[in-house]
Amino acid sequence: MRKQIAAANWKMNLTIDKAEALLNEILQADASLAENRQAIFAVPFPYLIKASELLNGKNNYSISAQNCSNKKSGAYTGEVSVEMLKSINISYCIVGHSERREYYGETNQILKEKVDLCLEQGITPIFCCGEALEIREKSGQNGFVRGQLEDSLFHLSADQLRSIIIAYEPIWAIGTGKTASTEQAQQMHEFIRSVLAEKWGADVAQDITILYGGSVKASNAKELFSCPDVDGGLVGGASLIAPEFVEIIKALKH
Ligand code: PGA
Repeated sequence: MRKQIAAANWKMNLTIDKAEALLNEILQADASLAENRQAIFAVPFPYLIKASELLNGKNNYSISAQNCSNKKSGAYTGEVSVEMLKSINISYCIVGHSERREYYGETNQILKEKVDLCLEQGITPIFCCGEALEIREKSGQNGFVRGQLEDSLFHLSADQLRSIIIAYEPIWAIGTGKTASTEQAQQMHEFIRSVLAEKWGADVAQDITILYGGSVKASNAKELFSCPDVDGGLVGGASLIAPEFVEIIKALKH
């Protein structure tokens, strides 16, 4: 079975004391993850090292960055390079979250550059895609998401694609309390997998983990994760509450 993942996206929340307490509480609950299941914590940059230390090599728990620069190194004040992330042993990085696309003008081309830099350094990009409400209202979601995948990922080899996690996050469901129905989530995940299959073949497509994001919580995680093409979740708000996130980890498919 493909890897099943519960990824926490803390966004720009928590001070270091609260961050430490949250991570410790989740680790102590010990959702003991089996071989093919994983919990990932995308924490703010200043907490990456501390959070990695707290994991203390715990099996199947990892730390992720929430973003990286699309430049390799040099005079880019305020940016954080993929090489820097690698140098502190970070193995995942969210790329193309809709908040980055919307508030910081990240285009499909910029995200393509970030994906390439991550792969060059052996960091797994968690590549986000998803449509806004206006697009869904006109039933344009499939074409829109296909465009995001084509523009940022279609230049990759099959082997490179196998090192990527995709997160489908409909913008209208992020932080709104409005979750996609299981039918909507399954339909889009199946569509994404079919696009991957067209380009790289069915075997490759079957191996790619596709997460759902948008108001995932303990009360809806099990149902969403039970969809055949939903391989876990990228979780914002509910990942800031330890018992909620522990339940979400436990809801991963076995
Ligand atoms: P949410 O955020 O769970 O708060 O909707 C998800 C995300 O933005 O990754």
